[in-house]
Amino acid sequence: MRENPLLLETATCRYGMEALARAAELIRLGQPVAVPTETVYGLAADARDSDAVAAIYAAKGRPDYNPLIVHVTDMEMARGLAVFDEKAEQLAARFWPGPLTLVMPVREDAGLSPLVMAGLPTVAIRMPAHRAMQALIRESGVPLAAPSANRSGAISPTSAEHVLGSLGGRIAMILDDGPTTKGIESTIIAPGMEGLRLLRPGPVTAAMLEEASGLPVSAGAAGKIEAPGQMESHYAPSKPVRLCAEEREAGEYLIGFGSVQGDISLSETGDLEEAAANLFAALHIADASSSTRIAVASIPVEGIGAAINDRLKRAAA
Ligand code: TXA
Ligand code: MG
Repeated sequence: MRENPLLLETATCRYGMEALARAAELIRLGQPVAVPTETVYGLAADARDSDAVAAIYAAKGRPDYNPLIVHVTDMEMARGLAVFDEKAEQLAARFWPGPLTLVMPVREDAGLSPLVMAGLPTVAIRMPAHRAMQALIRESGVPLAAPSANRSGAISPTSAEHVLGSLGGRIAMILDDGPTTKGIESTIIAPGMEGLRLLRPGPVTAAMLEEASGLPVSAGAAGKIEAPGQMESHYAPSKPVRLCAEEREAGEYLIGFGSVQGDISLSETGDLEEAAANLFAALHIADASSSTRIAVASIPVEGIGAAINDRLKRAAA
């Protein structure tokens, strides 16, 4: 039996050789470690070890029907796990390393823990563009399963402090390499020769995918949860959230954007990349404020704005 995940002392260690060696040792021992990627902090464990993967689900309180993304450092590792068709190869060549996750048929000889796929015949794979996650995969020598490093359903973490606030006492270590740059989880697609199905909008936009693949991008079938984590209520603060706010109403903490000035702004200049990078930190701050409700200015649905609106809708649901 694994020890109670609630009784661990959580060490936050600044990224460097020593911290990396310690993190890799924990991975070898089957313990999850929080580590940054360019999108959000992930909670990583050996994707081939069912006890280690079970420890991720336990620490997060994640339902076991919600599969995990497997992180790799190179194409050889990736091709050993999933069956890449021509389109998947093309997209990987164009966007990896980077914030794109590809859902593909899992190889029979992949050696992954079945808990990673949660019963699906497919596996989600991504090659992250962050030195800490890349170094941890190399140092531990195994593909790492890693969901976002937060309690299931809560706001995603873009800093070591966010991880500590959500998972402190439930994990042994956080590898701290500062705030993440993209701020929003990877785009998830299921590639096919006729078209790409967008399962979760993210930093790689539909327009970028269409341009790179020459194929149409369609939304994952409405009403059906194709990426099981895309549940209606997710990224949820503990307070009610009102969207498309033009000004503050009584009791609200207002998150502004562009010309809408709030208690804090996602981007005063109306820059969507900046807004994405600031989104989860702003929700964390609003949630911790003394206000009883949260309001958020309207964000245009163009470019990465589609992903920002996707997350806001779930935060408000
Ligand atoms: O940017 C990211 O993707 C971050 C960093 C840590 O890499 N990870 C992340 O993981 O956001 P998580 O677990 O919070 O979200 C993974 C999503 C879930 O919605 C899950 O349902 C979906 O990926 N997913 C995983 N495997 C899948 C599969 N085989 N088919 C469809 N969806 C899948
Ligand atoms: Mg998540």
